[in-house]
Amino acid sequence: MHHSARRHHLLAVAVVASLGATATATSYDSFFPAVTKQTCSAKLNYTDDSPYSKNVADLLSVLTSPTSAIDNWWFRRATVGSASGLAISASGLAMCFADSDASSCRSCFAMVTSNVSGEVFLPDCDHSRNVSLVSSDGCVIRYADAPFFGTSVSSGAGELVLRFPGGDFDGADAMRDARRALLGQLAEKAGGEAMRFATGSQGFMVRGIWKVMYGMAQCTRDLPASECTGCLVDLLAVMYRDVSVTNSTEASVMGFSCYLRYQMDEPIHIAGMALPPSPPPPAATHPTGSASPSTVGKMTTVLIAAAAVTLLITAIGV
Ligand SMILES: *[C@@H]1O[C@H](CO)[C@@H](O)[C@H](O)[C@H]1NC(C)=O
Ligand SMILES: *[C@@H]1O[C@H](CO)[C@@H](O)[C@H](O)[C@H]1NC(C)=O
Ligand SMILES: *[C@@H]1O[C@H](CO)[C@@H](O)[C@H](O)[C@H]1NC(C)=O
Ligand SMILES: *[C@@H]1O[C@H](CO)[C@@H](O)[C@H](O)[C@H]1NC(C)=O
Repeated sequence: MHHSARRHHLLAVAVVASLGATATATSYDSFFPAVTKQTCSAKLNYTDDSPYSKNVADLLSVLTSPTSAIDNWWFRRATVGSASGLAISASGLAMCFADSDASSCRSCFAMVTSNVSGEVFLPDCDHSRNVSLVSSDGCVIRYADAPFFGTSVSSGAGELVLRFPGGDFDGADAMRDARRALLGQLAEKAGGEAMRFATGSQGFMVRGIWKVMYGMAQCTRDLPASECTGCLVDLLAVMYRDVSVTNSTEASVMGFSCYLRYQMDEPIHIAGMALPPSPPPPAATHPTGSASPSTVGKMTTVLIAAAAVTLLITAIGV
């Protein structure tokens, strides 16, 4: 299935679920627009003829052009204008999520950069000095009147949580174990990668049937390794706090500094990368349905943090 169609499919479920309606399979097929989350400082905080306005325009151009070059690995950071004296310099970054496609990411950037006949895409951010936006179209874009690079936005500032509503399905326990092992491992691994990105899979057994959980984790590339991992662990906690994600076989959490996604049974398509190999079913006749010992051993630190959250959820939710 085409990626953006898939994402809209997922979104539709999230929207329907939040309305409390009873969802049926056919109702998922219609098109839903991308959802966004943004935080902005006071609006109408500078004028069009101000130096800051010019610097923001120049910055956005540096961050997002030429649009023909934008692909799913796009990342730029820049500061424009003098950093001395009055707060007129503009600093920012723009990144596409690795699982987005170029056209979705471009339309995501356009939410901040477009200036077609004065149309304002984000009314609450109109002429705000500081803007942070994340969109299910697959991008994050931020700018501010002072540099902010290297520090992640703390969780709670705003995340998008997209998921299939979790049911009471057979094998949810094994699914959660595999998810915890996989996402904990990816959160740690992404921080150490130059691209601040990691993808992987984790097999598990449900009543004799071999299943695979696929995941990916990504941070903005200005972050040092520890900030990246910390940001992703925070997203894990967001995921585990959300009861509707508890048994969900597919979900993602998108923050202003990092992004975490998993889905069961179907590999996550990353343009420019081969699909990950599926972990083969164990040859042993006594499958445990949990993460392989080597994976779990390597991930002790992250897993402990995640496990504490899970226990908390279990205590509240059941
Ligand atoms: C921008 O907002 C700050 C407070 O948030 C205020 O002190 C300042 O006067 C505003 N500047 C303009 C040009 O509106
Ligand atoms: C936006 O468009 C208006 C009218 O076309 C123009 O005056 C203004 O300079 C543009 N602003 C930017 C930031 O490009
Ligand atoms: C914008 O963000 C920068 C960097 O975090 C901060 O120093 C500045 O005070 C913020 N400006 C406004 C108007 O909120
Ligand atoms: C998740 O599934 C388990 C069965 O494995 C069930 O006991 C639990 O109530 C479900 N939790 C939610 C939040 O649906």
